[in-house]
Amino acid sequence: MQNLSVRIFPDPILQKQSKEVDNIDEKIVKLTKSMIETMKDSDGVGLSAPQVGILKRIFVCRDFSDEDKETFLILINPTIIDYQGRVESKEGCLSIPGFYEYIYRYEKINMKALDINGEEQNFHSDGQQSIVFQHEFDHLNGILFPERMTQIKKEIFLKRINKAFK
Ligand code: CO
Repeated sequence: MQNLSVRIFPDPILQKQSKEVDNIDEKIVKLTKSMIETMKDSDGVGLSAPQVGILKRIFVCRDFSDEDKETFLILINPTIIDYQGRVESKEGCLSIPGFYEYIYRYEKINMKALDINGEEQNFHSDGQQSIVFQHEFDHLNGILFPERMTQIKKEIFLKRINKAFK
C-alpha cells in the first residue's frame, strides 16, 4: 500500500491539468487501490489523482448503487458524453476540509472511461453519483468547486478559505 496524503488548498498542484494514462500497468493498479483506501480513511465519496499529487486522469468514487457503501468505481481517462438538466448541490472537498457550499451541476451525466482492466465502460448517472462524477472530473482539469459558484459567492468563499488555509 502506497502512503498517500491529500493535498490541501491552496496547493498549486490542485489547479493543474492532469495527463491521460497511456498504460494501465501495475503501478496504476496499486495507485487506484491506495486512492480508494485514502478516500475511505478520509470519509470521502470521491478522490482524484491530482489530489494526492499525481497529475494523471484517474479518479475513484463510491458506487452509489450499492447501499452498503462497499463498492467503488475507478474511472481512467474519463470523458463526458452528454448531460442533462440542472440541480443545486451542496458540496465539499477533501482538499478544502470543513467547508461546504451550494453550487449548480448537471442533473444527469453520461461518461465514458476505461476501467482498471483497460476496458471502455459507459457510466450513466444521476443523483449523487452524477454530482461526484462531475466534481472529480473537474479536479482532472484543475477546477475546484468554488469555480462553479457565482462570482459574488465565490469571492466570499475564497476569502474564507484563504484565511483558513494560510
Ligand atoms: Co474535491
